Amino acid sequence: MKSLISITDLDPGEIMRLMELTSEFEANPGQRLLEGRIVASLFFEPSTRTRLSFESAVNRLGARVIGFADTINTSVSKGETFHDTIMTISNYCDMIVMRHSLEGAPRYASEIARVPVVNAGDGSNQHPSQTLLDLYSILKTQGRLDNINIMIIGDLKYGRTVHSLLQALSHFNARFTFVAPPELELPGEYRQFLKDKGLSFIEKQHIDESIRQADIVYMTRVQRERFSDPLEYERVKNIYVLRRSAIDGAKPNMKILHPLPRVNEIDPQLDGSDHAYYFRQTENGVYTRMAIISYLLGVKK
Ligand code: CP
Repeated sequence: MKSLISITDLDPGEIMRLMELTSEFEANPGQRLLEGRIVASLFFEPSTRTRLSFESAVNRLGARVIGFADTINTSVSKGETFHDTIMTISNYCDMIVMRHSLEGAPRYASEIARVPVVNAGDGSNQHPSQTLLDLYSILKTQGRLDNINIMIIGDLKYGRTVHSLLQALSHFNARFTFVAPPELELPGEYRQFLKDKGLSFIEKQHIDESIRQADIVYMTRVQRERFSDPLEYERVKNIYVLRRSAIDGAKPNMKILHPLPRVNEIDPQLDGSDHAYYFRQTENGVYTRMAIISYLLGVKK
């Protein structure tokens, strides 16, 4: 039984196998490999894309979904513990997909559940299924994962998609440029991670002409829900807005990715640009999650 809690749970061979499976599901999404199975979708924190694309993936695979989009109508609101909730629900399903605001909650769930657990985002920590769809989007648009020049912009402190993406790309000799204000810079543990891997990276506070060398520009939202001080959020919330002028001279095949939701980080006038890939990225999420579910349940090796 294998769970997916951190992107570091997967070695490069497994990542590439999941890329192949995702491509297979994109070519043929009508594979009802999981008839009779049940997946519990437990969202203790809000979501649009992750929850609905997982549920779409489960339905496309012929399985059924149970679960909740918030805890208001569950016994959590009566005071039931996280432990008892997971112990109970793991008796009702073949897999748990869960999002939680507390870092480590999915790891704990995987230690007590009788079924595999997929981390659909835990606090500022990890978002491994997002990373796999990001990697698939990079592979599809650039034709490779190796030696990608990626500029990651915005909330590098609280952005869990950034943390898991840089860990995944560290297998593929990526060249990173990080753009963030001091308040939102990359936490020390991730800098150390890259140093330990022998990867150099550049840090900036402004989007500058080096965007012209990027294969991928990865925009992120400032994570309002993680700030303890609302005034600090107000100071940094609109710090970067990507506009057409900023990407003048970009590589013809440069693609803008964003895990979404977008608040104000990308000018909607860019949506029609050949560089904009963020909505097609969301479609890749369904095929990626079909691959993850079928791989973890062992119906695809
Ligand atoms: N990318 C992402 O996690 O989006 P949601 O919060 O809408 O699931």
